[in-house]
Amino acid sequence: MDSKYKDNYTVFRNVVKDFGADNTGQKDAAAAISAAIKAGPSNGPDRSSNSMGTTGQPAIIYLPAGTYLMKSSLQLYLGTVIIGDPTNPPVLKASSDFADDHIIYAKDPNFGGTINFYLGIKNIIIDSTGVGADKSITLLDWTVSQATQLTNVGFNMPTNSAKHVGLTTQYDYNSNLILNDLWFKGGATGMKLSGQQWVFKNISFSGTTTGVQAGGTDIVFLGCRFEQGTLGIDAQGTSGSLTVVDTTGVGMGTLISSSSSNTAGNSIVLDNVQNSGATVKIGGQTTLSGNVANTWVHGHLYTSNNAKFQSQQGQTVTTSRSSSLLSGKNYFTMAPPTYKEYSTGQVLNIKNVPGIPVYGDGETDDTRNINLILSRYKTSCSLMYFPAGTYIVTDTIFVPAGTRIIGDAYASTISAVGSNFEDESAPRAMILVGYPGDVGVAQFSDMVFTVADVLPGCKLVEVNIAARSPGDVGFWNSHFRIGGAAGSQVESLCTDDPNDCKAAWGLLHLTSTSSAYIENMWGWTADHDLDGDNPQTISTGRGLLVEGTAATWLIGTGSEHNTLYQYNFQYARNVFTAMQQSETPYWQGAGSRALNPAPWQYLDSSDPDFSNCAANDSKCRMALFERIYGSSDLFLYGGCNWVFFNNNGDCSGDCQTNAIDIANSTSIYLYGTNTKSTTNMILEGTKVIATQSDNAGGWGGVIAGYLYDS
Ligand SMILES: *[C@@H]1O[C@H](CO)[C@@H](O)[C@H](O)[C@H]1NC(C)=O
Ligand SMILES: *[C@@H]1O[C@H](CO)[C@@H](O)[C@H](O)[C@H]1NC(C)=O
Ligand SMILES: *[C@@H]1O[C@H](CO)[C@@H](O)[C@H](O)[C@H]1NC(C)=O
Ligand SMILES: *[C@@H]1O[C@H](CO)[C@@H](O)[C@H](O)[C@H]1NC(C)=O
Repeated sequence: MDSKYKDNYTVFRNVVKDFGADNTGQKDAAAAISAAIKAGPSNGPDRSSNSMGTTGQPAIIYLPAGTYLMKSSLQLYLGTVIIGDPTNPPVLKASSDFADDHIIYAKDPNFGGTINFYLGIKNIIIDSTGVGADKSITLLDWTVSQATQLTNVGFNMPTNSAKHVGLTTQYDYNSNLILNDLWFKGGATGMKLSGQQWVFKNISFSGTTTGVQAGGTDIVFLGCRFEQGTLGIDAQGTSGSLTVVDTTGVGMGTLISSSSSNTAGNSIVLDNVQNSGATVKIGGQTTLSGNVANTWVHGHLYTSNNAKFQSQQGQTVTTSRSSSLLSGKNYFTMAPPTYKEYSTGQVLNIKNVPGIPVYGDGETDDTRNINLILSRYKTSCSLMYFPAGTYIVTDTIFVPAGTRIIGDAYASTISAVGSNFEDESAPRAMILVGYPGDVGVAQFSDMVFTVADVLPGCKLVEVNIAARSPGDVGFWNSHFRIGGAAGSQVESLCTDDPNDCKAAWGLLHLTSTSSAYIENMWGWTADHDLDGDNPQTISTGRGLLVEGTAATWLIGTGSEHNTLYQYNFQYARNVFTAMQQSETPYWQGAGSRALNPAPWQYLDSSDPDFSNCAANDSKCRMALFERIYGSSDLFLYGGCNWVFFNNNGDCSGDCQTNAIDIANSTSIYLYGTNTKSTTNMILEGTKVIATQSDNAGGWGGVIAGYLYDS
């Protein structure tokens, strides 16, 4: 943020106390809440002007319990997070004479949908039951992309309404990862979608005529419930793959309906689905009825070492889930912790510990005192609160067992700087979570990890600790950003040649001793500048390296624009993923000045060396989307592997040669794998098995099921 505004800007706004919103349901509260959203620095422009940059205007809009009457809509801007009281979620209730077509517009109108980042809504109920059932109204438009969070939100609509819609994404194209822990009651349509990809986790629909109109390329439903409706999922517009896991239909006319398709596109995978009556209809015909105890595949199905796929109308296969990943029969999932059971006295503000000052001011070195506080309070069961700010660290922050950390969404940033992180041949962790062999609790919510300078030896986060119970070790709504924002030299230094800009060794390393649950995480090496106009040509060595063996969950994650790979499973075992979204660096490909593994010189044993590519083959020497080596029992649902550019410019046809490489592994299950502009979708070692042209559909290629040695 512009320093002349810094002292006059408040992140946290209580709509009742600070802005006088009425929470009794008697008087219109829309104007007061809007004022809380818009308020900029007292001496400067309001937030709707976006003049402080994307990352310079974080705002937490806190709604105490109560009912807020809405006569008109709310408009959010980048950096806005609406949070209701988690112990008693407040209700935003549209008045009978509600003026607009949506109650909340989340997309910042000053930016395109695919760059609407850093927005959130949690712990509220949006209610249209006071609006006539015959009047058109939508509760929320959520045309937003990665690093956003919609969680613990209820959509309360009248039953038997032909015109109320819960959620739309109608104002632009968008690239989101996850919506989770929501409920929809009544209404004509729960969610009317058009966009790139999502995983929908723990979403329930009750009395909603059509649950979801699922327009998108790659969509995963996980742990959802559809009750008392005509149609659960309308998948006609799901051009790539629809994957439905651990989901139940009760009293539904039809659970899933799609159009007939002779291509690989519109594929459908069902895995542990309970339903009575029509479970899948294709082109109006019932293709499948009743429960799916195992896995049902409609689309292209591959088995190991066999380039000849089967085009299945509906084939049952066995997915032997690892028991360590389960809760009952379902994959373990959990709602993001709200810590509502904590009293205010149990929250420790890291900037407010007597005698141990921590500044978070983007300048002072906070390493020593953060470490001191974390080690001193690890047995106190406190919740460590990092208020919005940039915490500069010059060496490793050690997070011991017993730590729970929360930030202000998208604005509590840990940022590395200095010579400790410069040596590419000896990478050093910025955040080290436990030592090998540690078991216990280590949780992170609403944090951002970044680098303040070009640091070839910085591994941003390394996790060694294992959870005692699933979810004890976890990250929720916590994200990586390399470059692309004010406060980092990377933004101004990395504008041209990737060889000059090894900004970080890698983002996240889950080591062999770790066991972690990760939900809603975007590992972004910036492709553009959020706070200015600098071109961004940045080389981050690696995205996510997973070596965990006990149990690892990755739900709604993205890894974009990292150099050697986006996801790497090296001797990993027992991993569940639902939605992996990834993109290649825009600067790679034909014409690029760095061909993989360049600019990286010291390769780790887990790094691909690209020795299968000719020395000058720039389309082969591009980041693998996914590498799987020496691994077993990986259950990977919903893979998005997108490539858009070569050498920072347009490219047409096949822009990249290889997407996914699997070798020396057993029991690997890939369901709903999609590619764009890539020649080979899957290689086994150096042998091409699945090509995009054999699997044409969706945005390029679609494989419903790929069963490697399983
Ligand atoms: C802005 O903050 C400074 C420093 O706290 C204060 O002196 C000044 O009065 C503030 N200006 C306004 C318009 O609030
Ligand atoms: C599912 O989401 C609801 C909120 O809609 C939450 O109350 C519930 O605890 C979640 N269930 C699980 C199993 O996480
Ligand atoms: C690589 O170099 C060889 C030999 O000069 C040439 O035949 C080939 O076309 C080049 N390939 C690419 C992708 O540039
Ligand atoms: C797989 O492992 C075997 C034995 O360790 C080794 O000989 C082979 O080269 C490996 N395959 C690949 C593709 O690395």
